[in-house]
Amino acid sequence: MYRTHTCGELRPENIGTKVTLSGWVQTIRDKGTLVWVDIRDRYGITQVVAESDTAEDVMAILKSLGREFVIQVTGTVSERSASNPNIPTGEIEIKVEAVKVLNASLTPPFTIEDQTDGGEELRAQYRYLDLRRKPVLDKLRLRNKVSLETRKYLDSQDFLDVETPVLIKSTPEGARDFVVPSRMNGGQFYALPQSPQTFKQLLMVSGFDRYYQIVKCFRDEDLRADRQPEFTQIDCEMAFVEQEDILNTFEGLIQHLFKAVLNVDLDEKFPRMTYAEAMKRYGSDKPDIRFGMEFVDLSSVAKGNGFAIFDDSEAVLAINAEQCAVYTRKQLDELTDWVRRPQIGCKGLIYLRYTEDGTFKSSVDKFYSSEDLAKWADAANAKPGDLILVLSGDVEKTRKQLNELRLHMGNELGLRNPKVFKPLWVLDFPLLEWDEESKRFHAMHHPFTSPKPEDEHLLNTDPGKVRANAYDLAMNGVELGGGSIRIHDRGVQSRMFDLLGFTKEEAEAQFGFLMSAFEYGAPPHGGLAFGLDRLVATMGGSESIRDYIAFPKNNSGRDVMIDAPSPLSDDQLKELSIKLI
Ligand code: AMO
Repeated sequence: MYRTHTCGELRPENIGTKVTLSGWVQTIRDKGTLVWVDIRDRYGITQVVAESDTAEDVMAILKSLGREFVIQVTGTVSERSASNPNIPTGEIEIKVEAVKVLNASLTPPFTIEDQTDGGEELRAQYRYLDLRRKPVLDKLRLRNKVSLETRKYLDSQDFLDVETPVLIKSTPEGARDFVVPSRMNGGQFYALPQSPQTFKQLLMVSGFDRYYQIVKCFRDEDLRADRQPEFTQIDCEMAFVEQEDILNTFEGLIQHLFKAVLNVDLDEKFPRMTYAEAMKRYGSDKPDIRFGMEFVDLSSVAKGNGFAIFDDSEAVLAINAEQCAVYTRKQLDELTDWVRRPQIGCKGLIYLRYTEDGTFKSSVDKFYSSEDLAKWADAANAKPGDLILVLSGDVEKTRKQLNELRLHMGNELGLRNPKVFKPLWVLDFPLLEWDEESKRFHAMHHPFTSPKPEDEHLLNTDPGKVRANAYDLAMNGVELGGGSIRIHDRGVQSRMFDLLGFTKEEAEAQFGFLMSAFEYGAPPHGGLAFGLDRLVATMGGSESIRDYIAFPKNNSGRDVMIDAPSPLSDDQLKELSIKLI
């Protein structure tokens, strides 16, 4: 028997018991006749002590130990003279009687402690050691709890967990596919699913009624803090539902998860906002509504004073940073540099300080009198002490830039408390999105999303104006999930492919299976998918999903631990009928 207890388990009530523990050496303190060893496993840390009456051979082994050695110790639980209130086992220690080295360890390349000295790259390379650290382990524990509670909730709602294939055919969902060559079908390729979208719809045609799967999805897209090339969805689909049924069901899931995992009560009814409103008020389809600082349109009060930058722009938009008139010139210059970075791409930033004594100071005083500026302040609902930040230009671009600035100010002013959770349904997304580069429409969500019946008449005349039966759940500025009511009619689906620029032949070759299925009694259906990694990271109060994935990829899509991707041998390539160019 390797152990009678774990390293996190023993308490004063165990005093006097003989126990055996196994684990890793966290620290060793050697004071000659007194030696302390902290032994660690997944459950905690326990102090082991050897004193002058400890057998010589035991003492010798203890003194030879190094960090991260795997050991087994047997001894008696005793009261600790100087207790450590920081750990749950802090009131006891083990008086060692026997010790065995189960495996030695090289000195780890970084300290295995809550605050480590290891850089990100090094920790990624030795991820199995990084995972020994409690803060990292705790994040994966949180993930485990969320998946478990997800299964419990969906099971209680009659959802069936069904696995769908990983080697499939390329389906357009916005990103590039990862592809897998087929040895048995030389020159042909599978694609890894960007999501199980078509399969879950087919399961509805099969009559499964309610499906879910916690499933890996693969997308070859540029990576960010909240994007990984392989990530996990809580993927769901329901038959005989309308949008309202879906929103209610999954509001229930999210409420259950926050209560069961974090003991947080979310709003009984999540607020809702249309896409158009979200873009107008926040410049984002996933607004962070933990704080205000909503957009103000200054066009009517700021145009026409001879300031060409405003006069020539489509939109003059502002935010009011309350109580920030005290910002120094240096701080304002820094903000200006911040919006000028290539990632944001503004030409400049105009500001208006509404000072505590009620006067106005702006960076465009030459063009605007105090009365003019008072109108800006009025439009922005500003009070003395506030700072108005203004951007202008093309509407869409300016909204995006001001969204970035708003979030940045939210961070600067501590308004984005990671322990506060504000969900928001964003509804009525546009069905299509015009792509200037390819000069054609793309599906904003995916090609299986249905148009709103009241907008269907616009499909032929003004497709860009058609709204979709599509919804996202945003929380704290993160898109946690999204979905739609699907098309379930062959004719409408075929019309949709048409609009997206597919020829009849292309649509048939790629999606013939789905359109055929629609001819065999497809029920009305809809669904959604949450990004599990994003959900867990948000619950953990982080914007980076990488920490919540056991073995994540870096920003170049590499796994630096196993060194993937990597070249194939000539023999492998030949077998797959592949020639590299
Ligand atoms: P969508 O493409 O919106 O919808 O994806 C659903 C959710 O998955 C998460 N997500 C990601 N998480 C991490 N890394 C990525 N690269 C990544 N891409 C997406 C997001 C997102 O909201 N089949 C549809 C769902 C449906 O219509 O039912 C779909 O995949 O949290």
